[in-house]
Amino acid sequence: MKAKPLLIKEASVSFGSVEVFRNLSLEISQGEFVAVVGPSGCGKTTLLNLFSGFLKPSLGSVVCSGRVRMVYQHDGLLPWQTAAQNIALGLRDLSSEAERKRQLNEMLRLINLEEFAGHYPHQLSGGMRQRVELARALAGDTDILLLDEPFSSLDYLTGLRLRRELARMLEELPRTVVLVTHDIEEAAQLADRILVLSDRPARICRELRMSLPRPRELTHPQVVETVHAVLAEFGLEQDKVGV
Ligand SMILES: Nc1ncnc2c1ncn2[C@@H]1O[C@H](COP(=O)(O)OP(=O)(O)OP(=O)(O)O)[C@@H](O)[C@H]1O
Ligand SMILES: [Mg+2]
Repeated sequence: MKAKPLLIKEASVSFGSVEVFRNLSLEISQGEFVAVVGPSGCGKTTLLNLFSGFLKPSLGSVVCSGRVRMVYQHDGLLPWQTAAQNIALGLRDLSSEAERKRQLNEMLRLINLEEFAGHYPHQLSGGMRQRVELARALAGDTDILLLDEPFSSLDYLTGLRLRRELARMLEELPRTVVLVTHDIEEAAQLADRILVLSDRPARICRELRMSLPRPRELTHPQVVETVHAVLAEFGLEQDKVGV
């Protein structure tokens, strides 16, 4: 049986009178790519904060075994460090200077920001900053990636390109990934399993599994059917395909 590096057992979380989770349980296997979709304010970021250890449940338990990197929904870059220095933070554990340099250049090339390596975050656009964040999270040795809407402020085409790049990189460097997204197509293109969360207190109201290898075409029938099924869950389309 595969190891389960991420486990939540009967966890409850409330902020004052706002009950976010009641008795939530979830298991994520090693190397699995799980996408989480759900209404705004239902608890998606809170779920990632539980996994990262930033937040403790008031009841129940959370296990997260492995080195974790998180990409935050809002700017997580250090404003006094350049794009290159921010990415290099993700490479601190590598002892070889030459290897750190090689990987830094590779990441800059990947996010297409070689020319902006020496720029500070305030000199970059929102989409550029997001690309730097993603590069920092992907750089170096990590076991678990927690991604909170990492592509949300990218233009459509850059978003599509980075999805493909992420899929390609995971092929080379397999990791356990939890991706929070409001983009259902993105979830269907990337995830092995999509969790649809309900309104608060959030429960997992539907799970969809995808067996198609990555990268996946947006127009592939299984991707299209999955998008339909998730939209149906939100009452936005009729669920006629029964994925
Ligand atoms: N630190 C906090 N203090 C008080 N309330 C909080 C805190 N963090 C989250 N909440 C509340 O918990 C609920 C879930 O918030 P969360 O940020 O997890 O939602 P989300 O699903 O990520 O939403 P979005 O899609 O808009 O990012 C919201 O009602 C929010 O107001
Ligand atoms: Mg959020």
